[in-house]
Amino acid sequence: MRRPLVLGAFEEFTPSFISNAWRSPRSDPAGFATLDHWRSLAREIEAGGFDFLFLADALGYPMAGEDVPEVVVREAVQFPIHDPVPLVAALAASVDRLGFVVTASTTAEQPFLLARRFATLDHLTAGRIGWNIVTSDMQAALVRLLGHDDVTPHDRRYDRADEFVDLALELWEGAWSDGAVLADKRAGVFTDPARVHRVRHEGEFFRLDGYFPVSPSPQRTPTLFQAGASPRGREFAARIAECVFIQERESAAAAATVRDLRDRVERRGRPRDAVTVLNSVSVVVGSTEEEARRLRRELTATPSGDAMAALFLGWSGVNLLGLDPATPVDSLSTEVGQTTLAMYQGRGLTVGDALDELASTLGGPKITGTPESVADQIERLAAVTDVDGFLIEHSFGGVATYRDLIDEVLPILRRRGVVPGEPRGGTLRERLTGTPTARLPATHPGAAFRSAR
Ligand SMILES: Cc1cc2nc3c(=O)[nH]c(=O)nc-3n(C[C@H](O)[C@H](O)[C@H](O)COP(=O)(O)O)c2cc1C
Repeated sequence: MRRPLVLGAFEEFTPSFISNAWRSPRSDPAGFATLDHWRSLAREIEAGGFDFLFLADALGYPMAGEDVPEVVVREAVQFPIHDPVPLVAALAASVDRLGFVVTASTTAEQPFLLARRFATLDHLTAGRIGWNIVTSDMQAALVRLLGHDDVTPHDRRYDRADEFVDLALELWEGAWSDGAVLADKRAGVFTDPARVHRVRHEGEFFRLDGYFPVSPSPQRTPTLFQAGASPRGREFAARIAECVFIQERESAAAAATVRDLRDRVERRGRPRDAVTVLNSVSVVVGSTEEEARRLRRELTATPSGDAMAALFLGWSGVNLLGLDPATPVDSLSTEVGQTTLAMYQGRGLTVGDALDELASTLGGPKITGTPESVADQIERLAAVTDVDGFLIEHSFGGVATYRDLIDEVLPILRRRGVVPGEPRGGTLRERLTGTPTARLPATHPGAAFRSAR
């Protein structure tokens, strides 16, 4: 029998995320930068039975040619956007059970610094931290902000990601043996030097020689998420991801992606179910079908067309507004987000068609209806796609995104056994992947760094 579904909240540290609906009367974007705003949200979803809060991130912003489109700044298209790491550290003190998944980029970061930061977060959250590994969207701005010479080509960014993660795994799994920390006052030994190991890495992208100064945390390696479903992205995921975040709108396409991911995982010598696959969904609940449809229409009508085009530009790297509306979308290609562009290909759309439908289609499937109907749709989607759970997309903003789902829909799904009767506990890894321990399973390549010591 399938495991009860895993549930996460899909957010970003911005006034408004995917829906760009901060102008909705239900939205309260002014307080987005405050701890109060996020503490209310975290407490609401924790009490509602969610497993984790997922924070996407963007270091850059969309660029059209040499500059940021004005609409990005004017209409808050992921701008402003703040650093999710301090937010998670603060929230960890506000909730007891909720897990956190933080997005960080292998294109922008350095393995040693990132490994140190996530190991520290794993300590502070008692093993409830995950890392969403991305190679980054918004590439044009990113290279200028980081002082890089040029955009690294798409597949090459994944080569760097492979080496990045391997080195981080060596630091987390291999730099300390179990039982190294003794804190023995009588003997005067805090850490047994024989159990702390020097790491030497000489690779194509990174060099490191030395000791990892963070003591082993409950999970050691944070639960490893990946997002980016291009062929190269899937190969990367098949090797190292424990959870994969996909964004398929059609159930047949989602089922094919899940099957393909599990096939690739198996070819890498890992069990088919070694990856937990989560699809994002946008949920709007009404007391009647009519009310639900009205709320959905309101949500879709709120952002301007230019704001949605700018969001698409940031994610995909393709500026639809700069193209002839008659251009076939199938003729376009990108070195940025191939997954996002692919979602508009293969359907005979022109650029004009794509622009028209962005507000109602960008992101995951849109589930709209009464509580019973939404529960049916979620249950059916899980059954036909074989996903292990869902990320609920930011819609109206703050608790307004989640309250109806929590109050009206989750009790139905709980009664049906589709979501857990009691919220899951334990580390994020145990909770999301069903492994019996907090540590990476033996079938994961990171485990090899352990046995080497
Ligand atoms: C569902 C999904 C979520 C993503 N979330 C982020 C994110 O939060 N921050 C980011 O910089 N990139 C994000 N990306 C893009 C990744 O950076 C990805 O590595 C990049 O688009 C290239 O991969 P792809 O061509 O395989 O999609 C996401 C991509 C997908 C498909």
